[in-house]
Amino acid sequence: MEAALTTDVLVVHGGSPLRGQIRVRGAKNLVSKAMVAALLGDTPSRLYDVPAIRDVEIVRGLLELHGVRVTDGELPGELSFDPSNVERANVDEINVHAGSSRIPILFCGPLLHKLGHAFIPDLGGCNIGGRPIDFHLQALREMGAVVDKTPSGLDITAPNGLQGTKFELPYPSVGATEQVLLAAVRAHGVTELRNAAVEPEIMDLIAILQKMGAIINVHTDRVIEIEGVDRLRGYTHRPIPDRIETASWAAAALATGGDVYVQGARQADMMTFLNLYTKVGGAFDIDDSPTGGIRFWHPGGELKAVLLETDVHPGFMTDWQQPMVVALTQARGLSIVHETVYERRLGYTDALNQMGATIQTYRECLGGTPCRFGRRNFTHSAVIAGPSKLIAHDVVIPDLRAGFSHLIAALAAEGTSKVYGVELIRRGYEDFEAKLAALGASVEKG
Ligand code: EPZ
Repeated sequence: MEAALTTDVLVVHGGSPLRGQIRVRGAKNLVSKAMVAALLGDTPSRLYDVPAIRDVEIVRGLLELHGVRVTDGELPGELSFDPSNVERANVDEINVHAGSSRIPILFCGPLLHKLGHAFIPDLGGCNIGGRPIDFHLQALREMGAVVDKTPSGLDITAPNGLQGTKFELPYPSVGATEQVLLAAVRAHGVTELRNAAVEPEIMDLIAILQKMGAIINVHTDRVIEIEGVDRLRGYTHRPIPDRIETASWAAAALATGGDVYVQGARQADMMTFLNLYTKVGGAFDIDDSPTGGIRFWHPGGELKAVLLETDVHPGFMTDWQQPMVVALTQARGLSIVHETVYERRLGYTDALNQMGATIQTYRECLGGTPCRFGRRNFTHSAVIAGPSKLIAHDVVIPDLRAGFSHLIAALAAEGTSKVYGVELIRRGYEDFEAKLAALGASVEKG
């Protein structure tokens, strides 16, 4: 993701607790994949609770370019997808989406099955590491795809169709696991994927594929077995709630000394986050009725420093890290953060330091678990000394989650900060300005 748009500014008068109720909808990182899965069906699919975010608009645009008829349903957040006329899209038109998102890479399997050909534009997404797609391409090649790297993007064909295979991921990548699922469900024969990612969003994608007629077995030890079938039908699905957005508001409640009820949040996907929240000194209360959610609040007193190591599921999500670090600036003692999923996901801490935080970053694996980045000279650990009084400062947000953490810091800081580039936050947080207003934040457009 490129530098933030400096015209898109939010003026934040910070220093007051966030208090009130907001609602989360379907998880961004499931909804976008569910939309791609709709391509695989012979009949229309319907998805509920889709958030109005930029990433959804991008995937909708790409589907429409490929002949999928996407229509808004009667309920807010309801989308229908009719894939009966899937066709090759014009490369120039696809390339309008170049650099906008990482989702286009997941179109490979469905387009190869439907058309025997896929053109994938250059990918976008947050600049938080190299984010290669080598696992994706290796898996596709093993299934029989021929990948041609052209100056404008990837041109992929499958002259003999896609075949089931045995493949072991070098690292449990979320995207590469989804790639294999979306390609293998209609491949000839059985695919065995080892070292697969098992994030709740992946389990929900598997649930969708099963509704479509796919046969997928999730075994112990990260092994997923997919028996290819000839046809898939459309699905109707209500996605799991967005656990990243939930954690972001929870961290905001803690950092500002507030009290936020996140309607729609679900405990099951957030166990690891809730454990850390408790250790830091935050409080939560779960209402698991059908219309329930989770209330998060700062119970008073001092927050406690903790050790936070990010990891693949069921570990502490990398996307929970940035918002929680803002809360950790308010904890007494030295907190340690070890980011093991992305090699460059701590750059945003410079802005927090400008606001008065004391955060030192390190190349070593702090925290005890050696990771892929320790020997490769990446700055991927941090020590946060707290508590620090945060003071207003203008910031330019670098990416989606770091952007939300800068916003939280501005809300927690005394005085008025300008937050530049809030457009990036719209990629993953629906209506966040209205939600801030509902929580009593004093913010206005710059
Ligand atoms: C997904 O990204 C999410 N994005 C990310 O959320 C999330 O942080 C990440 O999973 C981890 O949970 C979407 O779902 C759209 P990965 P993804 O493949 O699939 C390396 C957000 O803000 N890798 O699991 O791209 C990679 O470099 C975003 O919502 C390879 O080396 O992540 C990284 O170090 C940010 N080769 C690690 O694996 C590959 O071919 C994990 O990446 C693929 C990945």
